[in-house]
Amino acid sequence: MDQNELKKLVGEEASKWVKDGMTVGLGTGSTVKFMVDALARRIKNEHLSITGVVTSNATAEQANALNIPLKSVDEVAKIDLTIDGADEISRDFQGIKGGGAALLFEKIVAVNSRRNLWIVDQSKLSERLGSFPLPVEVIPYGSKKLFSKFAKKGYAPTFRLDNTGQLKYTDSNNLIIDLHLKEIEHPHTLAADLSNQVGVVEHGLFLDMVNTVIVGYPEGPKVLT
Ligand code: 5RP
Repeated sequence: MDQNELKKLVGEEASKWVKDGMTVGLGTGSTVKFMVDALARRIKNEHLSITGVVTSNATAEQANALNIPLKSVDEVAKIDLTIDGADEISRDFQGIKGGGAALLFEKIVAVNSRRNLWIVDQSKLSERLGSFPLPVEVIPYGSKKLFSKFAKKGYAPTFRLDNTGQLKYTDSNNLIIDLHLKEIEHPHTLAADLSNQVGVVEHGLFLDMVNTVIVGYPEGPKVLT
């Protein structure tokens, strides 16, 4: 099984966690895309009444095309369950997200959810966070100053580019600086340091947020709690 097949496997498995009447946070990325497809099939075949809360324009576009009813996070009283992907998950269930540049809305939806379920293929698990570059969303004004500050701190920053080689803008018209840290020894300390920097909108450390992870292995999906 290749990585894409493992993503499909966990995406389809996760769609079964959605129950009739739920308000569901819909994450972003290639794994979630499979989940949203499978959820739309269930909504149609089982006549489920589901409200989705999306975390990006890309997921909104897919959900709209599949006729999944959507509301914004501010329009719902609660989000029962959010299903999202991740870029790296440590053994102690801390995560890095934002590889798809959607970390800001993903984190807003996650912190407003009763339960967070992440779906990943086996390659995303690691002993300690840091092998995946840590995305930091920053406002464009002053971003070069922040970049220099990160470089001085030894965070090895790079500006995220899009596939045409231009600066990548997020759905909120911000920029992403990726920090190539290799290993993050103290994630909570780093998170506090990043949150303290003026001009940082949000960072991709998702700490103490996830309740359940479904991991795709060639033998089948495994649920970790
Ligand atoms: C987007 C994210 C994604 O959830 C993360 O990048 C995983 O993506 P994929 O399922 O495509 O590997 O955080 O901002």
